[in-house]
Amino acid sequence: MTLGRRRSLWALALGLALAAALLLWPLAWARRPVTVRVLMPAPFADATAAMVADFNRSPRGVRIEVTRGPFETEAVSDLAISSLLLGDSPYDLLLMDVTWTAKYAAAGWLQPLDPWLGPEALAPLVPGARAGNRIDGQLWRLPLLADVGLLYWRTDLMEAPPRTPDELVTRSRQLQGQGRVPWGYLWQGRQYEGLSCVFLEVVHGFGGGWSTDEGEGMGLARPAAAAAAGWLRLLVSEGITPEAVANYAEPQSLQSFRRGEAAFLRSWPYAWQELQGEGSAVAGKVGITTMVAEPGLPHAATLGSWGFSLLAGSAHPEEAITVLRTLTGADSQRQLVRDWGYTPTLAALFEDPDLVKLRPQLPLLRQALNAAVVRPLSPGYAQLSDILQRELSAVITGGESAGPAMEEAARASRQLLQASGREAAA
Ligand code: GLC
Repeated sequence: MTLGRRRSLWALALGLALAAALLLWPLAWARRPVTVRVLMPAPFADATAAMVADFNRSPRGVRIEVTRGPFETEAVSDLAISSLLLGDSPYDLLLMDVTWTAKYAAAGWLQPLDPWLGPEALAPLVPGARAGNRIDGQLWRLPLLADVGLLYWRTDLMEAPPRTPDELVTRSRQLQGQGRVPWGYLWQGRQYEGLSCVFLEVVHGFGGGWSTDEGEGMGLARPAAAAAAGWLRLLVSEGITPEAVANYAEPQSLQSFRRGEAAFLRSWPYAWQELQGEGSAVAGKVGITTMVAEPGLPHAATLGSWGFSLLAGSAHPEEAITVLRTLTGADSQRQLVRDWGYTPTLAALFEDPDLVKLRPQLPLLRQALNAAVVRPLSPGYAQLSDILQRELSAVITGGESAGPAMEEAARASRQLLQASGREAAA
């Protein structure tokens, strides 16, 4: 073969290869998996890591990429909002606290889920887990797990848990007096969202609430609010709760109780698993129940819960919904209960014999969910909670007395709601 002929054959082959590459490139591009980006608080990014890895191994043409956010609810929301305010959110799905829904929906940051999931999406959930997902008739969020405030008590120190605020105080004093525990009751007293959750259960226990509806009577302006804040202060001033509680979020109170330093702890269901683990001084010595209440009043439990929402700006809503369905599905919830001690939302799982055998507290969690009380479902919730936390913190540390502090919280909340009403009307 002459050199010229060989060259033209090479050129032909090269040309054919180029043409094939150009033709096949869009096909190959189209087959690249779509990436669904999800922002989650750190604990849930960890708890779902194995499920996400499983999902990514399966040949669905969809990949999940999780951004591990901070630990606390306010910090995660700040992170999400700062990206949403820039316009182009880098996420398709957000794992949202129950208190964020109203704000995010009102801001137009979310897509309603009804067109994707149908009108019955919440029907398989236990009633307590349904709250806080549907606002103004539209579904904005589907919960991954339920959460509910609980009173943990030491089964080695007493036969049955206290049921009233007075009983809790008396029992604590006795046990402290006998030198059996340094502290009676541990809770979350830091100025952050956890403090609003602590307060909500207690205020219900005193016959009040945290309604922001003037028609029903602004909850914080009612005597029960001052009674609840006053009781929290009493716990500290009487030495039943350490003064350091003013710096306690969940981990600090949990670790102290785990070391055997108190008779009672207020926490969420996941604490159970940590209290049973290796190195816990109270493993096998802990019971759970709902928060104390004045005689004859119902025992309330603050509703927590984390759920997925679809961002309005998602470029891949269909794939994002596949991810949302998989992660909130029965298999995924079962894993979260089994491996991490989280609380499911699907009613069927509370009756699953294998799960109940492994987690005998499930029926009690279901009962607590039936007693669940929700924080105000308002777009201004974060500010309302800030106001309450600020005043409660002043009461707990002895800087202000309960009555005037709650009056001030009611006044500031009213002002905030009126201003946002004017804004909405303008
Ligand atoms: C838990 C609850 C959440 C609450 C938070 C407060 O994560 O599920 O609803 O806002 O605690 O710290």
